[in-house]
Amino acid sequence: ILGQETSCDETAAAVYDGSVGLLAHEVYSQVDLHAAYGGVVPELASRDHLRKLLPLLRKVLDAAGDSGTIEGVAYTSGPGLVGALVVGASVARSLAYAWRVPCLGVHHMEGHLLAPLLEPEPPEFPFVALLVSGGHTLLARVEGVGRYEVLGSSLDDAAGEAFDKTAKMMGLPYPGGPALARLADFGDASAFDLPRPLMYSGSLDFSFSGLKTAVMTQLRKVGSNVCEQDRANLAASTQQAIVDVLVHKSVAALKACDLSRLVVAGGVGANQRLRERLDDACATLGARVHYPELVLCTDNGAMIALAAAMRLQRG
Ligand code: KG4
Ligand code: ZN
Repeated sequence: ILGQETSCDETAAAVYDGSVGLLAHEVYSQVDLHAAYGGVVPELASRDHLRKLLPLLRKVLDAAGDSGTIEGVAYTSGPGLVGALVVGASVARSLAYAWRVPCLGVHHMEGHLLAPLLEPEPPEFPFVALLVSGGHTLLARVEGVGRYEVLGSSLDDAAGEAFDKTAKMMGLPYPGGPALARLADFGDASAFDLPRPLMYSGSLDFSFSGLKTAVMTQLRKVGSNVCEQDRANLAASTQQAIVDVLVHKSVAALKACDLSRLVVAGGVGANQRLRERLDDACATLGARVHYPELVLCTDNGAMIALAAAMRLQRG
């Protein structure tokens, strides 16, 4: 299966074989293109997908060997930036039409959710999934492919958005999540007292927008004489607040479902602090955590190809 992902600022493609595994995958990041604007500019994103997608497809098809054996084409059908999605959909549908093979639109979050199944020791169904990306934060009970029950989700900002927006307020470069995580390594996570929204609400929903306000208030308090150590402390405290909530709710979801497998996916799943804390919490619980490898945590074509392959396999 040829898989494409063009929902936001990564042009990605992969070839996946149901019996062999991942044959080739490539990710081209538009980070440099958007950096000057401090965030993704939708029109620039779609135009760049248009430039990069066909050469990238050529590259993965060459790497995978015989493109004449492609049995299906899959693309991210949403959610995402409309222009960017249209580029991917048009290319995928055209190729599938020309090759006379099925064409499948895959939900972006289903791709993220199944990505850990690309690992050498994939989790067995059922499991609890924590999906944490720039646009979504949710916990789901996963019984099998296409059988997902959302247990809770963010009522406002996603976890990645909380990372990105607080990073921007602190003057960190785009993309903010990894930049804030790097700065946090030099900080004291207990230096600033930040809220853990909805942590003890009893539900599995999240809320991160209040955290932005709290960080802004702290920044105002320290004022213009903010030193580098203050900034590192604030980054560490922000990361800790987000991680505390994600870990607490993931453990609560595992207990509520009486399951011992947690799958973590989406860009924020690349956060090392989150991984350490989830590993510790789940070890205490006797549960196991499954992550995709780092490059498959953020947006990629492999997860889209895999989701489509599993759907095709099930008819
Ligand atoms: O899944 P993804 O690549 O794209 C979306 O579907 O949104 O996730 C991107 C998000 C961004 O908010 C980015 O800042 C965040 O994942 N992210 C991180 C890290 N790496 C990526 N957040 C915290 N720590 C990281 N190491
Ligand atoms: Zn994503």
